[in-house]
Amino acid sequence: MKATIAILPGDGIGPEVVGKATELLSVIAGKYGHDFVFVEGMIGGIAIDETGDPLPPETVRICEAADAILLGAVGGPKWSDPTATVQPERGLLGLRQHFRLFANLRPVKTYPALVEHAPLRAELLQDVDILFVRELVSGIYFGQRQEQGDGDSSYDTMSYRRDEVEQVANVAFRAAQGRRKKLCSVDKANVLASMRLWRRTVVEVQEEYDDVELEHLLVDAATMHLLTRPGSFDVIVAGNMFGDILSDEASVLAGSLGMLPSASLRADQFGLYEPVHGSAPDIAGQGIANPIGMFLSAAMLLRYSLRLENEAAAIESAIDAALAAGLRTADIAGVGQTPVSTDEFATAVMSKI
Ligand code: IPM
Ligand code: MG
Repeated sequence: MKATIAILPGDGIGPEVVGKATELLSVIAGKYGHDFVFVEGMIGGIAIDETGDPLPPETVRICEAADAILLGAVGGPKWSDPTATVQPERGLLGLRQHFRLFANLRPVKTYPALVEHAPLRAELLQDVDILFVRELVSGIYFGQRQEQGDGDSSYDTMSYRRDEVEQVANVAFRAAQGRRKKLCSVDKANVLASMRLWRRTVVEVQEEYDDVELEHLLVDAATMHLLTRPGSFDVIVAGNMFGDILSDEASVLAGSLGMLPSASLRADQFGLYEPVHGSAPDIAGQGIANPIGMFLSAAMLLRYSLRLENEAAAIESAIDAALAAGLRTADIAGVGQTPVSTDEFATAVMSKI
């Protein structure tokens, strides 16, 4: 098939891992006879430096003309001055909003090869396989806010509409139907009105999915259950901010934040694919970043936006094989294991396609 993929490397380790992901996609294209066209655009801090805008109109045009978007990361200390009028993160939030990418899928699973060095006891990590479905274009991230006000106060607003909750709940229930048929909805219904609407709506949506078992957890309890019984979760659905926080917490289960991919989807499966890890300025430019989260994001792009399931699975197995062969980047190397570079790990994965 012919497909155009918008490539947005962004900041920090973004360009390093995105570069490897485009190489990997070219290997896939060669092996399976596809024609992938890559068109690069600027986003985040680099775009602020070059144009003053974290999401230049040219980048939006490139993404509009593409079949899917592959993004590295945005942000870094250079642009994190709290008094700055524009943050690199605005570029990413702008893209999510512009394309109405309301469903953010973040799969988290434990790799047997990494369990022995994980910070949690190995027996807790048996069979961990969770899919987070995070609402991505509403909630407190996009509610009314007052940035400066009188200088002594400011506010953000958490608000949800019924249709917004319904839309993301439907994605979560359908995903659960294709998996182990369990859904956990996370909210703060004991305190927040918007979260009571969230819970009521999820309960209503469940009527169409009576084969899925539904559980509700308050977000504070959820943080604890995620670490004490991670293996009991199947799909977890949460609002924008709670989903943001819980998915970082859950990365500990996978061994490293560097392992986690994400897909941000619109109703028609157009999507933006990015690793969960962010720009990691502390290790940028050293060639030691873990490319797995990025590679798994590329696999999700093939699976969801291009519907190339075999090609997606080929990437996933190649990563498993590289791990099984003992290759580890620094973030997942245990005591006594010599870490390999981004380049070495990526080359190993590509050689196994
Ligand atoms: C994420 C990130 C973003 C978010 C930032 C970079 C705006 O933390 O994708 O989880 O908060 O959504
Ligand atoms: Mg986050």
